[in-house]
Amino acid sequence: MHTDQAAGLRAMQKKPAGSTSNPTAAAAKKTAPEKVGDPPSGKPVRVIAVTSGKGGVGKTNVSVNLGVALSAKGNRVLLMDADMGLANVDIMLGLSPQYNLSHVLDGQKSLREVIVEGPGGLKVIPAASGVKRMAELSALENAGIVHAFSELANDLDVLIVDTAAGIASSVATFCQAAQEVVVVVCDEPASLTDAYALIKVLNRDYQLNHFRVLANMAQSEQHGRKLFLKLATVTERFLDNVQLEYLGTVPFDPALKEAVQKQVPVTLYNPTSVSAGAFRQIAEQVNRWPVPQGATGYIQFFVENLFQG
Ligand SMILES: Nc1ncnc2c1ncn2[C@@H]1O[C@H](COP(=O)(O)OP(=O)(O)O)[C@@H](O)[C@H]1O
Ligand SMILES: [Mg+2]
Repeated sequence: MHTDQAAGLRAMQKKPAGSTSNPTAAAAKKTAPEKVGDPPSGKPVRVIAVTSGKGGVGKTNVSVNLGVALSAKGNRVLLMDADMGLANVDIMLGLSPQYNLSHVLDGQKSLREVIVEGPGGLKVIPAASGVKRMAELSALENAGIVHAFSELANDLDVLIVDTAAGIASSVATFCQAAQEVVVVVCDEPASLTDAYALIKVLNRDYQLNHFRVLANMAQSEQHGRKLFLKLATVTERFLDNVQLEYLGTVPFDPALKEAVQKQVPVTLYNPTSVSAGAFRQIAEQVNRWPVPQGATGYIQFFVENLFQG
């Protein structure tokens, strides 16, 4: 029984990225926009939502440092702060933005005007209390913001969305609209059980079936892989068509804590630290993910889905 499961997990991990055990559901979710009219303009942009079941597991650090590392590899990266909690991206980066997305929704500012330059080439859309409002926009407002985002597409390779923790519908909407969902876990019972609960809801109510798992604050790579296997074993046992893929491990690192205090991403504050090395490795992996195909690869898809959610 146990060996069977292990074999199942291994087989699961060998599947190419983006493959799914339920292609029909995935196709239904992902191809919808292709049916309507012309293909989107602009160029494909990789949209990655970073989420977790429980707060405080390192989502913002993952978003920021993955962003910096991807940027160092030549990607043009935009980081959207979609968490209205306390430890915001702007605090983590020592920025004090004047405007945010709600000013765009109010028509006071253009999207370009609210974007701030972060360190390491990162561009940032600051957190907005308006994020929740997005689902309630009129068709006209909707079209405006989709247009605003698609104008950005030509200057962008990757959009990273730092979400709040848990099963709030806004979190689910961001995850559903993104092409890739990274679930951050750490070695605390609540982190794993809450991650499982989140995956279950995203699968059952939002038809998501592919997740990448990042183990943070682990003692070692081996420890991180163990955490992944714990989650994957339960997921495989109880959720039929969910595929989890191991993305990587970021070790517990005092240098990262210090970097947070200094409001500088650890990848810039201490590039030789173990966590910075781990983030670079993970960025290398992300660079190898298949290029988004079809309409899902376009930022319009992300934004349209966001507003319809
Ligand atoms: N790899 C790590 N090593 C050491 N401490 C970490 C690590 N990742 C996160 N932390 C600590 O956890 C805190 C919360 O991280 P944060 O990225 O804000 O989590 P979240 O966005 O999930 O709430 C950080 O301020 C830092 O002190
Ligand atoms: Mg956070």
